[in-house]
Amino acid sequence: MAKVKRAYFCRNCGAQSPKWVGKCSSCGEWDTYQEEILESNTAKSSGGYQSSKTHQRPQALEEVESSNLKRVGIKDTELSRVLGGGIVPGSIVLFGGEPGIGKSTLMLQIALQENNLKVLYVSGEESSEQIKMRADRIDAANPNCFVLNETSTTLLFQHCNELEPDLLIIDSIQTIHTPKLESAPGSISQIRECTAEIMRMAKDKGIPVFLIGHITKEGSLAGPKVLEHMVDTVLQFEGDRNHVYRLLRSVKNRFGNTNELGIYEMSGEGLRAVDNPSELLISNNDQGLSGTAIGATMEGLRPLLIEVQALVSSAAYGTPQRSSTGFDLRRLNMLLAVLEKRCGFKLGSKDVFLNIAGGIRVDDPAIDLAVVSAIMSSNADIPVDTSVCLAGEVGLSGEIRPVTRVAQRISEAEKLGYKQIIISKHNKAVKAQDFKITVHMVGKIEECIKLMFG
Ligand code: TYD
Ligand code: MG
Repeated sequence: MAKVKRAYFCRNCGAQSPKWVGKCSSCGEWDTYQEEILESNTAKSSGGYQSSKTHQRPQALEEVESSNLKRVGIKDTELSRVLGGGIVPGSIVLFGGEPGIGKSTLMLQIALQENNLKVLYVSGEESSEQIKMRADRIDAANPNCFVLNETSTTLLFQHCNELEPDLLIIDSIQTIHTPKLESAPGSISQIRECTAEIMRMAKDKGIPVFLIGHITKEGSLAGPKVLEHMVDTVLQFEGDRNHVYRLLRSVKNRFGNTNELGIYEMSGEGLRAVDNPSELLISNNDQGLSGTAIGATMEGLRPLLIEVQALVSSAAYGTPQRSSTGFDLRRLNMLLAVLEKRCGFKLGSKDVFLNIAGGIRVDDPAIDLAVVSAIMSSNADIPVDTSVCLAGEVGLSGEIRPVTRVAQRISEAEKLGYKQIIISKHNKAVKAQDFKITVHMVGKIEECIKLMFG
């Protein structure tokens, strides 16, 4: 009887070991190794992808033609921008997100919108009828969009050879398997081998591929990190399933900027690109409610105005509560400590709740000033002037620190009709006379509070 070849793989980083170990020597995680069968006597040696190119020799870089790297423009403006301006031929894009967030919807929508491209949509998750039902909801049609229910890479490559698509979409990498390996679809060795085969095919034929990947419980993309190293671009689709907005982020991009952000709205007819997010993220309250302030942040290269809401109330129980949604809780605690120590506000016995409107998460320190203003406004029950917008980082000694790309933030606030903006006085490059909006430059948090609440 032939021997069965087994190996152990780390679920976290994908490292391989011939025997089980408790602690991964590669990533340091405990108890992540699991056994997988690599080869048995029944395994077929055929399968995989055989390159049509004969042996390649080293080539002078100058002689390599660059013409075949022209990007394919796509109609979806948000995805196009996040990718860095269209799809690069032969590139592999890993598209990850939690179940039900809309990955299949977005990919099918792209397949249907690109009616000048021949698209092959391979699904191992849904039947062709189910895909058709989804396609009927989306307001686009592409006579050159083909669907295929297939999970074996060998057959997949055969169909690719026959059809010669311009774009290949695989939903999802966890359902695809290669007959070369014995382990179950979705296991680390399968995911890794399938991606490697698909990658060879994509680079060989110049077909761009979108791979949909599920996010694991730990929140990492498609299981092991190895996948992220192999592919050219990693996109992440995130958002709260209970909110309509979805954010498309690029985590890694060999062909573009990684700080770009795309915003979509989930509607009854698929996903709609949101062109002017600032207008949507701000709930226009004319009455002037206390506890809200507008901050000018940047998401990638795009300025975005967001609404910060705070509620400060006397603590009903011994230990005051601090809770925050969409903003780092430790940073909130730090800002409260600064307000207490530098400005003498007694917030130690108060409950503080903070929320970023629209269900988005902000890491930009420039919204510190808006957070502080929202807290002060709620504490004193005095509304912040609705024509004021803020952009500044608060330091530990209560100083207002400068922020990046301040001119863009000011222009965005001006565009949306704000009359005043408060920034740090250390943003030296800003010339207030260049803008129609009144630019206040402050150095200390006390000055900002005085300016806003008198
Ligand atoms: P789906 O693309 O199946 O998610 P994923 O592939 O990431 O698991 O998205 C499913 C959700 O999207 C589902 O809850 C229904 C919703 N949806 C709409 O709201 N409008 C639509 O037009 C479509 C097609 C889906
Ligand atoms: Mg899906």
